[in-house]
Amino acid sequence: MENLQLKTFAEYKKAYKKSVKHPETFWDEIADTFTWHKKWDKTLEWDFSKPEVKWFQGGKLNITENCLDRHLEKLGNKTAIIWEPNDPDEESRYISYRQLFVKVSHFANVLKNNGIKKGDKVCLYMPMIPELAIAMLACARIGAVHSIVFAGFSSAAIARRINDSECKMLITANEVYRGSKKVNLKEICDKALEETPSIESVIVYRRTVEPTPMKEGRDKFWFDELQKAEKECPAEVMDAEDMLFILYTSGSTGKPKGMVHTVGGYMVGTTYTFQNVFQLQKNDVYWCTADIGWITGHSYIIYGPLASGATTVMFEGVPSYPDYGRFWEICEKLNVTHFYTAPTAIRALAKQSLEFVEKHDLSSLKVLGSVGEPINEEAWHWYNDNIGKGNCPVVDTWWQTETGAIMISPLAGITPTRPTFATLPLPGVQPALMDDNGEEITNLNEKAEGRLAIKFPWPSIARTIYGDHERYKEVYFSTYENKYFTGDGSYRDASGNYRITGRVDDIVIVSGHNLGTATIENAIDEHEGVVESAVVGFPHDVKGNALYAYVILYDNVEPSEELRKEIRELVSDTVGPIAKPDKIQFVNNLPKTRSGKIMRRILRKIASNDTSNLGDTSTLLNPEVVEEIKEKALV
Ligand code: WT7
Repeated sequence: MENLQLKTFAEYKKAYKKSVKHPETFWDEIADTFTWHKKWDKTLEWDFSKPEVKWFQGGKLNITENCLDRHLEKLGNKTAIIWEPNDPDEESRYISYRQLFVKVSHFANVLKNNGIKKGDKVCLYMPMIPELAIAMLACARIGAVHSIVFAGFSSAAIARRINDSECKMLITANEVYRGSKKVNLKEICDKALEETPSIESVIVYRRTVEPTPMKEGRDKFWFDELQKAEKECPAEVMDAEDMLFILYTSGSTGKPKGMVHTVGGYMVGTTYTFQNVFQLQKNDVYWCTADIGWITGHSYIIYGPLASGATTVMFEGVPSYPDYGRFWEICEKLNVTHFYTAPTAIRALAKQSLEFVEKHDLSSLKVLGSVGEPINEEAWHWYNDNIGKGNCPVVDTWWQTETGAIMISPLAGITPTRPTFATLPLPGVQPALMDDNGEEITNLNEKAEGRLAIKFPWPSIARTIYGDHERYKEVYFSTYENKYFTGDGSYRDASGNYRITGRVDDIVIVSGHNLGTATIENAIDEHEGVVESAVVGFPHDVKGNALYAYVILYDNVEPSEELRKEIRELVSDTVGPIAKPDKIQFVNNLPKTRSGKIMRRILRKIASNDTSNLGDTSTLLNPEVVEEIKEKALV
């Protein structure tokens, strides 16, 4: 598993230079270490103006052969997945590479028996149980495209995603444990299924013994289907550029974007970055606390670690159950060496008594990771001092659903770290810091601030938005000519280290979850008493950002607490509980430009209680509403 690792800072610098000077040779050599049925004819073909990116064209492979089959000989008995249940009294599950291989092949035949073929889309709405990993790999085994929907999303959100990519099958579980709560996933699915004509069958894994209503002819239990299926399943030979999965992420319009990742480049990108960023050794135990419903789970719980032959931990529960020591208890119990989590979790845990940490022996830890949002100075130090005891390098990894793999990050123990900085681009990544005039700030020896773009393709870049290539072009490739625009602001120090400062568009990262404000506004506007709304983010000490909604009501509707509750429920039902606004202010009007656009900049400042300088309001059609809103602000 250490075969792709750079070992020193000098090696990193050398690899970086090579990746810029000779990107094709650089990636050829890395891709060569994988198992292919046929070698590629062309390493890279790209044109950001179309935009089009193709890696390893003509190459034939199956990613599951790289995650499973190729390890069997040497690592067959090694633990691939350690599953840690929500309830600490329930037993952990250890699944070896060989067992995982058998389970994936077996379940792949269940998919086939239910009419799933190469290219078909399968929606997964599942708890954090090994069967989620098995189902996703089974899809990849037969060339079906998985579309995993985070099991905290609402029925309406599932239906929207299923319909967008016309999934033929839905895989779910009857119920899920989440801390002290139990959530009935099947019920949520049943509601979604009322409006998803493309779904032909539903496979239900029984996580609990509760009776589960099943629809005759459509719904089938996981175990019943396994009984009927063969155990062996040869891997479908895929083209490097065939679709591996679709994963939805929020956009600035109401509609989620189905990011499309392809087999070859994604495999090479996630595996290379996994090995280099985390620097795992042979018997290490790696734990990423993300949910597989997000890209972090796809790339760094499943594909990157398994392709590397690592032992990866999957945790079903939450950090606060049965108490706030749960993460540390698991680290101690499983001898976790690499721990990868989000700043929002770090901040929430840092708020608790240190006893929760000190009760546990954390001496197995070697490397700590952070992902999902900017990590503030205080959280960085708390993590470094109390969890890492000053001995574990902290890797602050910047990347996105769209990038598929980590882009800017230290290599653990190799790159000098700097608190709150994601530091340097990984080999193969060419960032461009853009100024207000849309020009690249090229001097790496002078500190600068701007917007972050990338000027050269990397293997795991998303190839398109499913069914909407125009939107893909518009969102990512139209801001700067010939560059991918990330949507993030960034600062760069005089040594070339990057600190990501946050989103510069209408996306807000709440507790590490990427939310489009337009989606939430659409949900609020569905309320019969609401004329219009505007949602913005404001700083929050645990969540990073929280949501503030400004809502205009119809004349005959009285503002009330009850109404606030209804609006929050509506958002929860349409998007999911994570999108509920923290604050709702009823207003008579919203500040709008002459062209009718809401001036969110001002609303953001009011929500953040930062109104000393609201900037230029001269282009407003109705400047008087600003005072009115400010006076009644909920700050
Ligand atoms: C956005 C992407 C990719 C993993 C999970 C999130 C923010 C991500 C960092 C970091 C500062 C970060 C950015 C990015 N972000 N990692 N280390 N430091 N910001 O994936 O849901 O697609 O969100 O998360 O704003 O654009 P995502």
